[in-house]
Amino acid sequence: MSEHHPYFNDLIHSRRSVRKYDQHSEFDHDAVARSLELAVLSPNSSNMQLWEFHRVISDNERDQLANICMGQNAAKTANELVAFVITPYKWKSRAEMNAAQIRQAFDGREDATAKRALKYYEKLIPFVYRNDQLGLFGVGRKILSYCLGIKKPMVREVSKSDLRVCLHKSSSLAAMTFMMAMRAEGYDTCPMEGFDSKRAKKLLGLPKEAEITMIVSCGRRTEEGIYSERHRVPNQDIIISH
Ligand SMILES: Cc1cc2nc3c(=O)[nH]c(=O)nc-3n(C[C@H](O)[C@H](O)[C@H](O)COP(=O)(O)O)c2cc1C
Repeated sequence: MSEHHPYFNDLIHSRRSVRKYDQHSEFDHDAVARSLELAVLSPNSSNMQLWEFHRVISDNERDQLANICMGQNAAKTANELVAFVITPYKWKSRAEMNAAQIRQAFDGREDATAKRALKYYEKLIPFVYRNDQLGLFGVGRKILSYCLGIKKPMVREVSKSDLRVCLHKSSSLAAMTFMMAMRAEGYDTCPMEGFDSKRAKKLLGLPKEAEITMIVSCGRRTEEGIYSERHRVPNQDIIISH
C-alpha cells in the first residue's frame, strides 16, 4: 500500500505531554484496552515480546501510584496509569515460542534458510539472553565479541545491562504506539520516568528482575495542562546527512 495518510501528520502534531487532565470529562477505559492491543503490534527485538503493560484503574491504587510518581500533576489528575514493564526472565519461553512458530511456518523444511532461522532462536538467542546474577556471562560475551570484532562486523551490545537497554527500546516503542493510539481515540497522555521504581514495582507486584520503562498517564487534556508552546532544537542541529 502506498497511499498517503495526511491524518498521521495531524496526529503527531496534536500529541502533547499533558500535565493536567479534565477530571470532569467522561473517560472510556476501553479506549486504553484498544490502544494497548495496538501497542502489542509495535516492532520489538527478535519478536521476543519481553514486555507487560500494567493498567492501574482503581481510585485507590491509582492514588498510591500517583504518589509514587512523586505526586506529579500528570499522575494525580489522570483517569488511568499504564506501566510499561520489561520481563527479561521470560526469555526462554519466548525463544521456544518463536522456534515453534518457525517450525510450523517451515513445515518440516530442512533447507539452509529454515535451519538458520531455527538456529537463531535455539542457539544464538539463548546464548545472548542467558545471564547470571553478577552478569559474568555477559562479560565473557563482551570479550568474545571484541575478539571476533577485530576481523569482521560484530554486535557489541551483549552484556547483561546491554540486554536491559535492548528490552527498554522495544518497550518504549510500544509506549509510543500506545500514546499515538490514545490520541487517535481523542485522549491524551504523559510519559513519565519520574517515579520511585522500587515502590512502583512493589505496588504492581513485579518480581525483582522486572523493570519499569515508563509510566504513561491518561486522560482528556485541559488547556492549562499543556505547559508551553512546543519547542525543539533546530532540525539542522540534529538531522545529519552522511
Ligand atoms: C522517557 C520519558 C520520560 C518522561 N518523564 C516525564 C516525567 O516524569 N514528567 C513529565 O511531566 N514529563 C515527562 N516526560 C515528557 C517530556 O517532558 C515531553 O515529552 C517533552 O517535554 C516534549 O514535550 P511534548 O511531549 O509535549 O512534545 C517524559 C518523556 C519521556 C519520553
